[in-house]
Amino acid sequence: KRLILIGPPGSGKGTQSPIIKDEYCLCHLATGDMLRAAVAAKTPLGIKAKEAMNKGELVSDDLVVGIIDEAMKKPSCQKGFILDGFPRTVVQAEKLDEMLQKQGAKIDKVLNFAIDDAILEERITGRWIHPSSGRTYHTKFQPPKVPGVDDVTGEPLIQRKDDTAEVLKSRLDAFHRQTEPVINYYSKKGVVASLHAEKPPKEVTSEVKSVLSS
Ligand code: AP5
Ligand code: ZN
Repeated sequence: KRLILIGPPGSGKGTQSPIIKDEYCLCHLATGDMLRAAVAAKTPLGIKAKEAMNKGELVSDDLVVGIIDEAMKKPSCQKGFILDGFPRTVVQAEKLDEMLQKQGAKIDKVLNFAIDDAILEERITGRWIHPSSGRTYHTKFQPPKVPGVDDVTGEPLIQRKDDTAEVLKSRLDAFHRQTEPVINYYSKKGVVASLHAEKPPKEVTSEVKSVLSS
């Protein structure tokens, strides 16, 4: 399947992705994770992306379209994929359509993580991540077995630089202005399924599974 996950910061895209990936054996491409890795490695891409990311603004369409175009060439991404955090603007959605048209492929489903803004601050400010695997924890909602430590590897967890209440405001603003129109773009194609993203993680997983099996 070819899937897109769209939702505001903290809506649960990164939490559900690994579960969907394990179940459907897809390639998982998260532009935010790829950009953070580039920033950490100080690559030319990372240097260009860093400032916008720290401010909670979107990185330029050209940069992210370039990353996705490159990543989609991987053999594991030919039969299906999960896009987490892309496309985030209508321009990115149009570029993705062009890429898929060349392969004679199309998007099967867009999962819309619908949730009220008011819930997101607590989720974002309590989040801890294991950078190399992308595993996500939350001090209250999904605590690791040992505080500050990844359950699987025992390596330390970190907090994202953009996970402050203040930067969240810009990220939400970018979501409403630039990304919500992408949901309308796909609604017109009849491929959007909306989830109750405010529910506990396991219930959201059940909704995802029922959408994908229908
Ligand atoms: P990105 O990394 O994509 O961040 P985001 O969209 O802001 O989304 P988050 O990762 O914050 O949220 P999530 O939905 O994955 O939440 P999670 O599951 O972790 O992008 C970062 C930046 O990169 C952007 O600001 C931009 O600068 C740049 N960028 C990326 N893509 C771009 C693009 N295409 N174009 C331009 N720029 C781009 O959950 C959050 C927390 O809540 C966790 O602690 C989790 O444990 C907890 N939680 C999850 N689900 C539940 C639940 N159901 N109940 C209770 N708690 C839950
Ligand atoms: Zn995420």
